[in-house]
Amino acid sequence: MSGERPDGARTAPMLVGRADLLSLALRRWASAVAGTGTLLLVAGEAGIGKTRLLGEFATRVAPEARVLRATAYPRDAEAAGSLLLDLADELTRLGRARQGSALRSRLLEDRAAGSGAGSDRRLLVGDLGALLRDLLDEEPTLLRIEDLHWVDELSLDVLDRLAVSLPGMPAMVVASYRSDELYPRTPLAQWRARLLGQRLAEEVHPPRLGREETAVLAEALTGSLPSTAFLDALQSHSDGIPLHIEELIAAGSPAALPDTVAEAVRTRSALLHAETQSVAAAASVVGRSFPSNCSRRSPKCRRIRSRTRSRSSCSTTSSPAPTRGVRVPPRPHL
Ligand SMILES: Nc1ncnc2c1ncn2[C@@H]1O[C@H](COP(=O)(O)OP(=O)(O)O)[C@@H](O)[C@H]1O
Ligand SMILES: [Mg+2]
Repeated sequence: MSGERPDGARTAPMLVGRADLLSLALRRWASAVAGTGTLLLVAGEAGIGKTRLLGEFATRVAPEARVLRATAYPRDAEAAGSLLLDLADELTRLGRARQGSALRSRLLEDRAAGSGAGSDRRLLVGDLGALLRDLLDEEPTLLRIEDLHWVDELSLDVLDRLAVSLPGMPAMVVASYRSDELYPRTPLAQWRARLLGQRLAEEVHPPRLGREETAVLAEALTGSLPSTAFLDALQSHSDGIPLHIEELIAAGSPAALPDTVAEAVRTRSALLHAETQSVAAAASVVGRSFPSNCSRRSPKCRRIRSRTRSRSSCSTTSSPAPTRGVRVPPRPHL
């Protein structure tokens, strides 16, 4: 099977699956146009298709609405208001220079004054929230926000204010974030829990693709139906994550480890605690299941032992069920 679509593209021309999520988003959009706006969160692991889904949704509503886009980037959390600055740039790009510069000036004025606490911050959040409300109240507007897992705290506070007003506005906010980077007690985790708890936001989770959907995506990418063996390997190695399916097909083999995937695994695992890294390293050798009587003399077990510093982790001499397999959780995803 070839590794590329006949036209050389690496992405499928159509959205595979997701009909239910798209239709939910479109229903929420119809309510927004009628004056009852909403905040929809799209949560999922990297590569699951959050951006693709938001893109498809934005394309569908674009003919009848203004679509604004703001994105958070790595390290944005360190600079207050980064997401809003990105939105200000977008407004300027779209010819809304007055509103773009109002947003930017209020943020920069505050940075220059070096406030950031107490009543000054309240004032700032209130002003920025009002600017956003005025903007979204003008006409049916979709505000598409990407990668909230990198967002700064000030922008979250402002979005909080906006969320309270959305039910009376002709606007919808749809925002994506990586659910596997939602760490407990972080501003994003608290923000999300608060808004969901107050019914000011709704959250959806694009699932991994099933075998049939993987086949459809593979066919769209390569131009031919995958063989059963290829599809089995592709589904097993990609876990139905569209990004991995694309990368494995582009690599030409469902058993390959594309360097983009390898790099993403390295980056993510570097964030883990040392002990967790050690367990993950063992899991990468042992696979998702292994015999509980894994012998100290077996090469596989020796490899595991050499990967982990803990000598006891593979010692199963006292195991009560020597022939049964032991399941380990699925490998961590990117
Ligand atoms: N449902 C889908 N149908 C077809 N291609 C998809 C689908 N979901 C994702 N993709 C493709 O997989 C890749 C990763 O998707 P992306 O939306 O960037 O993931 P995320 O934003 O969740 O990290 C992109 O190239 C995208 O076009
Ligand atoms: Mg994305």
